[in-house]
Amino acid sequence: MKQLVLFSFILCSISINAQKTWSSDVAQIFYTKCATCHHPSGIGGFSLQKYSEVSPMANAISDAISTDKMPPWPPSKKYQKYTHDRSLNDTEKQTVLDWIKNNVPEGNPAQTPLLPVFPEGAMLAGGDLTVRIPKYMSKASIGKDDYVCFSVPTGITEKRSIKAIEIVPGNRKIVHHALIFVDQTASETTDSTSGKCSSPGNPSTVLIAGYTPGATPVTFPNKEPLKLGITMEAGAKIYFTMHYPDGSYGEFDSTKVIFHFYPKDETAIREVSAAAVIQNWNFSLPPNKKTAVSASYKALPSDISLLSVFPHMHLLGESIKAYGISPKNDTIKFIDVPKWDFHWQDFFFFKNIVFAPKGTVIKGEGIYDNTSDNPNNPNNPPITVVPGLNTANEMFLVYFHYMIHQAGDENYDMESLITASLNEALTIDKSILKVFPNPLKDKCQIILPSKIGELYNVVIYDIQGKSIKNLIKNQQSNSKEISLIWDGTNDNGEEVRKGIYFVSVNLGGTFSTARIIKE
Ligand code: HEC
Repeated sequence: MKQLVLFSFILCSISINAQKTWSSDVAQIFYTKCATCHHPSGIGGFSLQKYSEVSPMANAISDAISTDKMPPWPPSKKYQKYTHDRSLNDTEKQTVLDWIKNNVPEGNPAQTPLLPVFPEGAMLAGGDLTVRIPKYMSKASIGKDDYVCFSVPTGITEKRSIKAIEIVPGNRKIVHHALIFVDQTASETTDSTSGKCSSPGNPSTVLIAGYTPGATPVTFPNKEPLKLGITMEAGAKIYFTMHYPDGSYGEFDSTKVIFHFYPKDETAIREVSAAAVIQNWNFSLPPNKKTAVSASYKALPSDISLLSVFPHMHLLGESIKAYGISPKNDTIKFIDVPKWDFHWQDFFFFKNIVFAPKGTVIKGEGIYDNTSDNPNNPNNPPITVVPGLNTANEMFLVYFHYMIHQAGDENYDMESLITASLNEALTIDKSILKVFPNPLKDKCQIILPSKIGELYNVVIYDIQGKSIKNLIKNQQSNSKEISLIWDGTNDNGEEVRKGIYFVSVNLGGTFSTARIIKE
């Protein structure tokens, strides 16, 4: 009997193993949701792309994902939906946890999908204005991160309208975050020496974009039916706040931001404003206590459409929430960050534009933990902390991208409009792969040189590194040129969305990629 039980137990675990393996189920999740930061030159510190890298770390991974520490995605998903959500969905999470419980079976290595591709430089091609910080060496030391700010002239001599902003870290290994502000009146100055700078001094200098690892560029919908832009005044400067983490001492960086403008004669652009709509500069956080801080904006002078939200606190922040109360007393949900993490602040673009009617009161509520239980507390023992621009001071701000409301705004699917607007992405292609036509409407031809007898695999990825279609698996080349057709569909035969894709070819162990735009 005992033997029978044991036997059926083995059978049972074999059949579970057969369900979830690295090659058939798990690798793809790591490629999409982990490798964006955990690749050899990413901020994650170590690579989680290959079975040999992931399997020895199974316990740490299980902890990190069951506590939602990884992937870092601070906003509560129950409160509001955003585009480009980085977190694991319930199925993905369960798949990884089951796989770890079953002792990380590898499955058939030949079936492992090709490694994802991560652009080293810019994702968007071209660009009209590049602004770069001077080459800077991180001064972070053990237990102390380095926070510096740079004010850099743009040299633009006439007013332009920004349609896309891409921040390209100079050194992906050490740029933990970068925030980009437009200083319309050119009044900011550089602070590259205090190690504590995290904000501009002038309230008219507005935050317009942020980089955290894994972020996609800020691209506004820029075609009919929705053309959005932010004005940059002649003579404006760009203000960068940079964060280099502990461990980066001695490494160099020169982060840049690339702006894409509308043509000068473009019409019907709706102006997007970026502003810290709620702020509180008048609070004090006594030591060894948790303190609640709030702020509100009374009341919206007209109907407003909100595109994104960006809450901001420093190291003592514990949680932050922002919402509106409409004149009819409805709650309009913006964001709820139950566990604030200074390291993962970002603009969160709403999946659908959020409407706030005239008269809405915007509210923000935060809790600060100024006790020694807060591992991020910069003071030991804790001291009284008041608002200020340095990282060791505190801030309470919530920024928004917003515009004057027009009927129907809240029906736009922002994720697909934003993705479709990324379409200026084609960079000058140094790849040996030729794609024609590109952009494609129905189909394109992919051509590459090969040697007879070489094995090749071809996969189409989307912009977030997710495999969309396995075009060819383990074929042997029988000519000097391989020619393939991609018809713009995914593995299920469905037509993919408009946007940027990558074709990745593994030819006898050598990888090449090219960008494809689907129109
Ligand atoms: C947006 C970037 C990013 C993504 C995506 C990401 N990580 Fe991380 N991960 C980091 C960074 C940075 C660290 C270093 C510690 C820190 O800063 O929190 C880290 C640390 C870790 C650690 C070390 C232990 C710990 O808890 O600090 C594990 C394990 C880990 N990540 C697993 C994962 C897994 C598994 C995924 C995907 C499901 C993932 N990470 C996705 C950035 C990321």
